[in-house]
Amino acid sequence: MNTVKTVRELRAAVARARREGKQIALVPTMGNLHSGHAALVTTAAQQADFVVASIFVNPLQFGANEDLDTYPRTLAADQEKLLQAGCHLLFAPTVEEMYPNGMTGLTRVTAAQLSNELCGSRRPGHFDGVTTVVSKLFNMVQPDLAIFGQKDYQQLAVIRAMVQELNMPVQIISEPTVRAEDGLALSSRNGYLSEEQRALAPALYQHLKAMSQAITAGERNYGALINQHVEQIQALGFRPDYLEVRHALTLLPAQTSDRDLVILVAAFLGNTRLIDNVHLNLDSGL
Ligand code: PAF
Repeated sequence: MNTVKTVRELRAAVARARREGKQIALVPTMGNLHSGHAALVTTAAQQADFVVASIFVNPLQFGANEDLDTYPRTLAADQEKLLQAGCHLLFAPTVEEMYPNGMTGLTRVTAAQLSNELCGSRRPGHFDGVTTVVSKLFNMVQPDLAIFGQKDYQQLAVIRAMVQELNMPVQIISEPTVRAEDGLALSSRNGYLSEEQRALAPALYQHLKAMSQAITAGERNYGALINQHVEQIQALGFRPDYLEVRHALTLLPAQTSDRDLVILVAAFLGNTRLIDNVHLNLDSGL
C-alpha cells in the first residue's frame, strides 16, 4: 500500500488504476482507525478492485470549542490497519494541501434540508464541513463507490442527499455499525473515556434497544417514550444532547403511521460526546 500526501500524486495513482480497468472505491476517514473502519475497507475491497482510503482531520467540520487539536493522529498504526484490511492507496494530505486558499471564504457544499437538524443544530456548520470535504475528495479521486458507516447515521443521510441532488456519479454504500462486545458503538472518540465512563457508555445502546423493543411491541407515544428514557439516561450520568425517533429516510420527526424508523441519540459523558442509533422497520421485523 502506497501513502501519498498530494492531490497530484493521488490523481496519478488513481489514473494508473483506471487505465488498468479497475473499479475504484473510496473510504474517507479522519484516522485513529478501529475495527469499524477496517470493516469499511474490507467491504470496499469486496466491491471494487482498487481501494483508496483517506485520512484527514478536517478542520472545517469542527466547532470552535471542539476537539480538533486533541483529535488523535496515529498515522503509522493506521497504515498498518489499512494494509491488513486490503487498502491499496492511502491519501493523507496536510491542511494546506486540502485547503490551499485557506478556509475563509471557501466555496462550500451544503445539503440544506438535513444539515441543520439533530447533530447539525448542536454543531452549527459541522455538516457543511463534511459535505465540502467529501465533495473535494470525490472530485480528487472520482471513485465509482464510496463507503460510510451507519454509526454516523445523519452524516450518511446528508451525503446521500448531496450525491443525489448534485448528480454526483458515485454509489454510496453503507456499512453496519461495529460494536464492542458490550454493545458500545466503536468510535475514535471512545479513547477519551475514563475507565468508569467506558463502563457506563454501553448503557446508551441498551436504551436505544429498549426503545426499539417498545415501539415494535406497539408503543406509539414517542414523546412519552423519549422523555422516559432521557430521564433514565440523565440519572445514569449522561448529558443527553438529543434523543429522537425519526423517519429513517427523511429524518423528520416520526409520525405514528411511519413504518421505517430510526432512533438517534447524542449524549455527553464528561466532555466526550457519543452518538448512536438503531434502525427499525416495522414491516420487516428489523
Ligand atoms: O466520518 C468521518 O470520519 C468524517 O466525517 C469524514 C466522512 C471522513 C469527513 O471528514
